[in-house]
Amino acid sequence: MSALEVQGIEAGYGARSILHGIDLAVSDRGSLTVVGPNGSGKSTLMKVVVGLIRPTRGSIRLLGEDVTGLAAPARARRGVGYVPQEANVFRNMSVRENLKLGFEFIPSWQPGGFAGRLDAMLDLFPELSDRLGTLAGHLSGGQRQMVAMAAALMPGPALLALDEPSAGLSPRNAGLLFAAIGRIVDSGVAVFMIEQNTRLGLGAVEDGLVLVAGQVRARAPAHALLADPEMRRLYLGAEAAP
Ligand SMILES: Nc1ncnc2c1ncn2[C@@H]1O[C@H](COP(=O)(O)OP(=O)(O)OP(=O)(O)O)[C@@H](O)[C@H]1O
Ligand SMILES: [Mg+2]
Repeated sequence: MSALEVQGIEAGYGARSILHGIDLAVSDRGSLTVVGPNGSGKSTLMKVVVGLIRPTRGSIRLLGEDVTGLAAPARARRGVGYVPQEANVFRNMSVRENLKLGFEFIPSWQPGGFAGRLDAMLDLFPELSDRLGTLAGHLSGGQRQMVAMAAALMPGPALLALDEPSAGLSPRNAGLLFAAIGRIVDSGVAVFMIEQNTRLGLGAVEDGLVLVAGQVRARAPAHALLADPEMRRLYLGAEAAP
């Protein structure tokens, strides 16, 4: 069964149509990054997947269940952990308090309760181990993204949806963050990511999708997209070069 299945999605803003028949799937334990030029509809697709925009056509299934008619909070309760691009932590609360809120947001079915989940998160994000008492607002941008991801993972979602995780980070911090995303993928949580930095975004996952003008231009194993000279030249930008 797929963690996420998107079929025939048409969506836009008012009368303006942006997405024109999008099909994609993220398998159980799978990972997919959507890349594409500015304005191609990546963020719109993310909003449709997490329930912030209702599509005019098509369906969204989570773990086999049709959730097209459900708003974002109901999808979260069915297993979507969403990390928006901005404002994704409580800056005036400590790292531990942020993780506690993430845990309590959705009644957890995970064994071990809060302490067990906290240990699991510190395995994924060892950088946070000696920062639990620090205010999230006092962390580096990369550490803050780790807190946001850890908070979203606390209840044990089936799918982690990441919107531009590298946005605003230094190359070094982005590198550390994507190493952590690689560990999340390896841990078996399905990941659906939108990312501008194609080399980092495709490098951390199994599958890639190139979105151009609201349509799927290519869908292939991420390493194959990164290696394809035409894809690199047309859509992936010079930064994808090896
Ligand atoms: N809230 C909105 N109201 C109206 N039009 C919007 C809105 N948000 C986005 N659009 C339009 O939808 C199109 C796709 O935008 P979207 O943000 O999905 O692209 P994107 O691929 O995420 O781009 P970027 O790489 O710049 O983040 C653009 O033409 C944009 O102007
Ligand atoms: Mg965007």
